[in-house]
Amino acid sequence: MLKAILKRRSIRAFKDEKVQEERIKEILKAAMLAPTARNTQTWKFTVIENRDVLNSLAAAQKAMSMMKTAAFAIVVSGDRDILNDEAYLYVHSGAAIENMLLEAYEEGLGTCWCAVGPIKERMDLIKETLKLPDNLLPVGIVAFGVADEVKEDVDRYDPDKVNWVK
Ligand SMILES: Cc1cc2nc3c(=O)[nH]c(=O)nc-3n(C[C@H](O)[C@H](O)[C@H](O)COP(=O)(O)O)c2cc1C
Repeated sequence: MLKAILKRRSIRAFKDEKVQEERIKEILKAAMLAPTARNTQTWKFTVIENRDVLNSLAAAQKAMSMMKTAAFAIVVSGDRDILNDEAYLYVHSGAAIENMLLEAYEEGLGTCWCAVGPIKERMDLIKETLKLPDNLLPVGIVAFGVADEVKEDVDRYDPDKVNWVK
C-alpha cells in the first residue's frame, strides 16, 4: 500500500511553522490531477494564508477549530458555471481533496478535511468570509501545517463491508 494512504490521519494541532508557496503549489497541482467526469475539472481553490481569516473560521465553527494553528487552508469549491450538477461537483471536489491530503503527507505536512457543503451554516460562513461568487459551491476546507500530534496507524479493513461477486 502507498505509505501516504497508510499514514495519513486527520491532524488537528499544528506547529507554528510557515509553508513555502512552492509546496502549496505542489499540493494544488496534485489536486488538479484528480480524475473528473469528461475531464471537466470543475473545481476552484481558495488558498487562505491570512491569520485573521483562519482564526475567524476557527472561532465560528467548533468543527474547524484546528484552523487556529493551521499554516494555511484550502477551500475546494465546485463551479456550477462549468457543470450544473451538484452530485458531480461533490464527487470531483472529494477526489481533488483526497489527492491534496496524500500529496501534503508526501510534503511532510499534516491535514484535516472539514466538511462545508451540504451543511448550510458552514456554506454561508465560507461564502460570506471569502466573498465567493454564487456560481461556486463550497464542498470542503482542508487545514494544512506541520503536525504537532502523532497518530497511530490503523487498520480499518472490515470484511462485512465487502460483497464479493465470484
Ligand atoms: C467529508 C468529511 C468531512 C469531515 N469534516 C470534519 C470536520 O468538520 N471537522 C473535523 O475535525 N474533521 C472532519 N473530518 C475528518 C474525519 O473526522 C476523519 O477523517 C475521520 O474521523 C477518520 O479519521 P482519519 O482521517 O484520521 O483517518 C471530515 C472528513 C470528511 C471526509
